[in-house]
Amino acid sequence: MTMLEIIFIDRSPSKLLKLTDLRYRSFARLWTNNGEAMTVEMPGPIDELLSKCQGIVLDIGPGSGEILPRFNNSKIVTMYGAEPAAPLHPGLIRNAKKAGFGDKYIPLLCGGEPESLIPALHKSGILGQSGTGGAGESGVFDEICCVRVLCGVPHPKETIKGLYGLLKPGGRMVICEHVVNPWRTKGRFAARLSQFVFSVLGWSFFLGGCEMQRNTEQYLREAGEWSEFKLEYVGAKDAVPFVVGELRKKSA
Ligand SMILES: C[S@@+](CC[C@H](N)C(=O)[O-])C[C@H]1O[C@@H](n2cnc3c(N)ncnc32)[C@H](O)[C@@H]1O
Repeated sequence: MTMLEIIFIDRSPSKLLKLTDLRYRSFARLWTNNGEAMTVEMPGPIDELLSKCQGIVLDIGPGSGEILPRFNNSKIVTMYGAEPAAPLHPGLIRNAKKAGFGDKYIPLLCGGEPESLIPALHKSGILGQSGTGGAGESGVFDEICCVRVLCGVPHPKETIKGLYGLLKPGGRMVICEHVVNPWRTKGRFAARLSQFVFSVLGWSFFLGGCEMQRNTEQYLREAGEWSEFKLEYVGAKDAVPFVVGELRKKSA
């Protein structure tokens, strides 16, 4: 639909060559139509985990802010939302206001990958002027939330390492992500197989780069030293199993 819109309504077929923009725009279309319905029921204890967020918080890929009412805004000093899809920003700003964040919400037009996030954080002023090369300076965020987003970030291993670097020592990461089916342990072979089949049939292409077969739990574990690593599977036997929980970066 997005491709047809670009050709027949925008009459600007050259936009089809800008693949990243095309990807964000088509995902934004999908999310604008379905995001709210897809947020009514969230997996596992994520609502409770979000309600405890406090201090300076970074939310990766907030979309149009459907989950913002689940935070307790009185505990939050400032929240940065790193959302690369420009068409979702008006909704994000509207929902941040509606959820009572006022000036405490700072939307950033960037992705969670260091090469996009770090310059945006510098521009916003929360990172100092040194270290613009890619890796963040340590210790600026009390909490980082990744809710239904790490399936779509580029080079997830490095991106997650970058996010770890941005957490203050003792800081908390809240995770709610769908992952590769753990068929050798808690999962199911048929579900793992269906992930493979869906992927071959174009899941990632049709869902804006979302990957079904990511081992996000392993990337998180290997990102750095954690003093607490509490992730639970929700729907481990399903084709779209989630890991939900909280991790705490080891104190200095
Ligand atoms: C499934 S939606 C989830 C939105 C929100 N976190 C929620 O759970 O309601 C995924 C979001 O991640 C965004 N996204 C895609 N690629 C991203 C990236 N590289 N970095 C950060 N966010 C990204 C999408 O634009 C979209 O808003």
